[in-house]
Amino acid sequence: MPLTGKNILIGITGGIAAYKICELIRMFKRANANVKTVVTRNALEFVTPLTLETLSQEPVYYKQFETEERKPEHIALCSWADVFLIAPASANTIGKIANGLCDNLLTSLACAFQKQIIFAPAMNTGMWNNKAVQKNIETLKSYGAKFVEPESGYLACGTEGQGRLADLNSIYSAVEELLQENNKFLKGKKIVITAGGTKENFDPVRYIGNYSSGKMGAALAQKACEAGADVTLITSASLTRKMSFNTICVNSAKEMFEAVQEEFYNKNADILIMTAAVADYRPENCADLKIKKENTDELTIKLVKNPDILSEMCKIKKPNQQIIGFCAESNDLIKNAKTKIRKKGCDWLVANDISRKDTGFSSDYNEVFVLDKNLNITKIEKDTKENIASKILESIWQKQAK
Ligand code: CTP
Repeated sequence: MPLTGKNILIGITGGIAAYKICELIRMFKRANANVKTVVTRNALEFVTPLTLETLSQEPVYYKQFETEERKPEHIALCSWADVFLIAPASANTIGKIANGLCDNLLTSLACAFQKQIIFAPAMNTGMWNNKAVQKNIETLKSYGAKFVEPESGYLACGTEGQGRLADLNSIYSAVEELLQENNKFLKGKKIVITAGGTKENFDPVRYIGNYSSGKMGAALAQKACEAGADVTLITSASLTRKMSFNTICVNSAKEMFEAVQEEFYNKNADILIMTAAVADYRPENCADLKIKKENTDELTIKLVKNPDILSEMCKIKKPNQQIIGFCAESNDLIKNAKTKIRKKGCDWLVANDISRKDTGFSSDYNEVFVLDKNLNITKIEKDTKENIASKILESIWQKQAK
């Protein structure tokens, strides 16, 4: 569910529609979102803190200066919230926020909030049609705010016209859409990902390979796609289902190298992620026909070194291109990873311990360490490969976006 674990801050202003927000809180809570409410003093004329606290299971915030926590509330709540919804948004609060005024906690939060704010206005028709109110709304829209327009109908003040708080489902959908939009932190990026263990043939039907399943690469491709990237997966592992991104199937390291050169370098992609377990060696010769056992009691296969795709790409990459390597180690994980990121020259290296039975190769789970060029290390605790993939992408690119 898209709202699971998301932090929704609802600003409630003084208007009769404030009572409807109680139901909206329940809808968000049912979707496993975390909800906190910040209210104006006038809102408390319509809904009580006890109601809001019981529904949200969080304290209600309205005191601008007296804080229990050390951090100033407007900073703490702003960094906590994934989305800030102001509903009902009164003409008064809209006017104050449009003009940068901060005379209470709610307007101070709106002023400090760095992301898009959603307003769901509710007011009397005359107020809604007032030119100053409309001008304030236009100003906020020009600053990037999102509005869920009020509906027309019977209003609490006894008149009919536009001004009634939008249907709660429309407000809910607007929050959901904005969160999905915010999640597209790789929008506009072209990403090439390699996956699987390469297969190095020594006759037409036999090869030297490894146990890499390609699951980590496929999960990264899926998550990068969901984050808005244009993804190409170059894989030597067979895919069990149809993917929503472009896939190129290869077998050997040589084929993978050619595909990476074409898709990443020649087509000027933004990012290369090398999750593939590329064979370091390949048989020097590949027999044209199947090797028959009658002909020999012993078989010696001479291996020669494969190109190191990651190192080669790091050497020629353009300044706008970023490269993430993976490293599989069975001992001294961090020590070897630090040496490897320096040696290969990539921007990040994701290290995983392949000696563990419960994670890594072939498993559906992984636990990794993400190293940057300065050797800063972020640990991503054991989780499914899908969740690890999301966390790797977020830890690298959402950090950059901030
Ligand atoms: N890699 C590559 N080409 C190779 C070997 C590895 O591009 N011929 C890439 C892998 O895709 C991975 C990174 O290099 O992103 C590290 O791979 P790893 O197997 O951990 O290390 P190796 O370079 O193969 O070194 P070693 O096996 O000696 O640890």
